This record gives sequence, C-alpha cells and structure tokens, in this order.
Amino acid sequence: MSAILAVESLSKAFGGLMAVTDVSFEVREGEIFGLIGPNGAGKTTLFNMLTGLAKPTAGTVHFLGQDISGKAPAAIALMGLARTFQNIRLFGGMSVLDNVRVPRHALDGASLWGGVFGSASSRRREREALAQARALVELVGLGGRMDTPAASLPYGDRRRLEIARALALSPKVLLLDEPAAGMNHAEKQDLSRFIRDIRDRFGLTVLLIEHNVPMVMGLCRSVAVLNFGQLIAKGEPEAVQADPAVIEAYLGVAADA
Ligand SMILES: Nc1ncnc2c1ncn2[C@@H]1O[C@H](COP(=O)(O)OP(=O)(O)OP(=O)(O)O)[C@@H](O)[C@H]1O
Ligand SMILES: [Mg+2]
Repeated sequence: MSAILAVESLSKAFGGLMAVTDVSFEVREGEIFGLIGPNGAGKTTLFNMLTGLAKPTAGTVHFLGQDISGKAPAAIALMGLARTFQNIRLFGGMSVLDNVRVPRHALDGASLWGGVFGSASSRRREREALAQARALVELVGLGGRMDTPAASLPYGDRRRLEIARALALSPKVLLLDEPAAGMNHAEKQDLSRFIRDIRDRFGLTVLLIEHNVPMVMGLCRSVAVLNFGQLIAKGEPEAVQADPAVIEAYLGVAADA
C-alpha cells in the first residue's frame, strides 16, 4: 500500500505557542490510522492543517501525491479529504436530510434553482444527489428521522449525522475528530464496527483522533502519539502502547518509576 497522505515536518505556532512541532508521518491507502495524545497535544490543530482550516507555519502535506499545504478548505474537500469536528458543526435548524444534502451542493457550486429550472441533466444530478443523501442517512441509522431538525437529535445521533455529511462528499480520506466523545461503551463498540464497515464499503482511508485507547488499539494498524505538539511515537499499536515515552505522557510518570 502506498501513502495516500504524507505529512512532512509540519509545524503550527499560535503567537509564541508551538501547537504542533515538526511532525512527520505517512498514512497508507485503506488503513485506519489512529492519532492519540493528551488534551492540548495538537491533534485538532494537525487536522485543521490537513483540511486547510489552519495554515502551517512550516512543513508540507501531500495528498494523492499533490502538495495541499495552504490550499483552501473547499478545494481540499473536493479533492477527497473530508472531516468531522470535535465540536459538532451541524446546521441545527435544518433537517437531518438537508444537513447531508446541502454541503455537497454548495461545494459543487450548484445553484439552488438549477434543480427547478435547469437542464434535464442538472435535474437528474439533483435527483441522484438526493437519493445518495437519503442512502447515507439510512446508513448511519437515522432513516426514520430524515425530517427532524438536527438540533433536536440526541448527541450520539448528531455525531453519526456529521459522519454522513462528510461521506456525502465521496471522500477518499475521512478525518474523524473524537467521534466517540460522550458515547457509552456499547455505542463506542457500534461506532468501531461502523468505521470499519464504511472503510470497507467506500474504500476509505480513515484518520481517527480518539482518547479511548482500547478503541484505537482495536481499530488501527498504525498509531501516532502527540504530546505538547511533538510526535513522540508512531507504529503498530502494541509497540506504541509499550513505549515508555507514551506511558509517561499519559500517566505523567516515568515508565520505570
Ligand atoms: N486558534 C488557536 N489560537 C491559539 N491557540 C490555539 C488555537 N487552537 C489551538 N490552540 C492551542 O494549541 C494547543 C493544541 O490544541 P489542540 O486543540 O490542537 O489540541 P488537541 O490535541 O486537539 O486537544 P484535545 O484533546 O483537548 O482536543 C493547545 O495549547 C491549544 O490551546
Ligand atoms: Mg482536539
């Protein structure tokens, strides 16, 4: 498997604070790659740089062999890199179905009137997009709530709706920022199965930020660990979990203490 995403010497400074310092790693096509680390380690900032929401202070990101560092978020999303957010970002007043439908629409630059007055082909595209959005809502288990406003969904459902919305962009790479936050054990297990299932079904590559270490160890073949913005370990889950620097970062004590 070749690298679909290559991060090289990536850094981000906020004023005097180094949120991410000289981080390099590669993600292979088709894998589920775990990114872990204590609070404030720089995980979300790294995702923000991968998706164009934060401009790197230094370093590069290559996606599908192309340098995307500093590109606009919409351009990166259209290339096939989609994400969910740690702080869920849905259109609360909009229906479940429209939350999945509208972003794709916006990115395609389609006019809202195109479907009504436009050509036969634009109407057909519109119908296909609608069918795809419905299928994705079904896939995340919200088929019975197509017309419910997103804001009135329970928390776990909103997290799944965000994943459906990201999938509507037909991504090649899906970035999930703490998708299991606030879920109970059973919900986390369901989510793990779901992530594996969509990876297989859509041929995705997945980057997963997650605090729940057993979940990451169960899902990921490669794991990278950030601490105070620095990459302190990367590799297979077993090796990473046994790494003294990782144990120290998580427990705040030297491994042999
Ligand atoms: N826009 C910003 N301006 C200034 N500082 C920021 C900004 N965004 C993040 N930081 C700082 O950068 C550091 C890394 O934050 P980041 O949110 O990337 O961590 P994280 O690993 O995602 O943490 P968590 O597990 O709590 O989500 C923190 O010290 C944070 O306060
Ligand atoms: Mg974060």
